[in-house]
Amino acid sequence: MFAWLCENPTGTDAVTWQELPTPEPRAGEVRIAIKAASLNFPDLLIVQNKYQMKPPLPFVPGSEFAGVVEAVGDGVKHLKVGDAVAAFAGTGGFATHACVNAAVVMPLPPGFAFDDAAAFVLTYGTSHHALVDRAALKAGETVLILGAAGGVGTAAIQIAKAVGARVIAAASSDEKCALCRELGAAATINYTSASLRDEIKALTGGKGPDVVYDPVGGDLAEPAFRSIAWRGRYLVVGFAQGGIPSLPLNLALLKGASIVGVFWGDFARREPQANAKALGELAQWYAKGLVKPVIDQRLPMAALQEAYQRMGSRQVRGKLVLMND
Ligand SMILES: NC(=O)c1ccc[n+]([C@@H]2O[C@H](COP(=O)([O-])OP(=O)(O)OC[C@H]3O[C@@H](n4cnc5c(N)ncnc54)[C@H](OP(=O)(O)O)[C@@H]3O)[C@@H](O)[C@H]2O)c1
Repeated sequence: MFAWLCENPTGTDAVTWQELPTPEPRAGEVRIAIKAASLNFPDLLIVQNKYQMKPPLPFVPGSEFAGVVEAVGDGVKHLKVGDAVAAFAGTGGFATHACVNAAVVMPLPPGFAFDDAAAFVLTYGTSHHALVDRAALKAGETVLILGAAGGVGTAAIQIAKAVGARVIAAASSDEKCALCRELGAAATINYTSASLRDEIKALTGGKGPDVVYDPVGGDLAEPAFRSIAWRGRYLVVGFAQGGIPSLPLNLALLKGASIVGVFWGDFARREPQANAKALGELAQWYAKGLVKPVIDQRLPMAALQEAYQRMGSRQVRGKLVLMND
């Protein structure tokens, strides 16, 4: 097998493509021949030692992927050789093969494409958990999505639409805003060229959004929170801008608003049944065409460095997928 190996997490340049012995699955594991793996923001952070999870060295990055089960370890009941599957394993995906705990492997329903499946579980799982579970978003409510043209952002637009909410999508360029409108956003805000506060006020008649979905943080957080509606829910999803913002708590009091944390990985680990139910609903929505990953580019697995560069420079629209032939 071949894999991108991180022997020292000093940055993306230190990750190298190497031939490794093909592993045999241990008890409870399966070996997957990887067809497609997607790039998520944590994949960029983990090789720079900036992610909360620090795997033992060396490790193969690549948190989620899809492929075909090639070998099955003792005790695995729900998978067999030849099954098409998706896996959210945290690491291992930027490779031709991976042995993973069968508990994090889901059989794919018929008709689920490998590239879509590789770009599905983390982004859609996170945005569903955030909007449906944590914020209890209802039909007719307004949601403001920051970083809306990115991976979790595009998933959030589609999920909010599926729930029947009105979406205001905010992003850093007119091209990204155009993509968000194509995905069904009722209105967009380019926060590079316009004032976020003024635009939110104008687009909500001064009332503010009922829910704010924030995967960006930094200097967008406070103006967005200041604009939230009475009884609003502010979803803390991530800090792609790098800075972890502080919010004045008097604003929460004045708006009767909630600051709601979202940590999908721990939700999936602590509440596996609730997560399986959410992923089941998402798979049904995919089959009905209500949600579908927006794939920015499909690159060969060998082009991981180009993928890292594209994500780090904010060029990705939707998801980047790395493919094995
Ligand atoms: N809480 C959870 O459970 C959970 C799960 C998954 C991901 N996340 C987090 O959510 C965030 C987004 O993840 P993603 O996979 O959707 O990433 P992504 O596709 O790269 O999207 C991130 C967006 O953030 C914006 N951004 C602003 N400043 C940036 C910067 N300096 N560098 C890169 N992007 C910047 C970009 O939009 P504009 O250019 O339009 O500003 C970009 O589209 C990350 O912080 C990630 O760790 C959290």
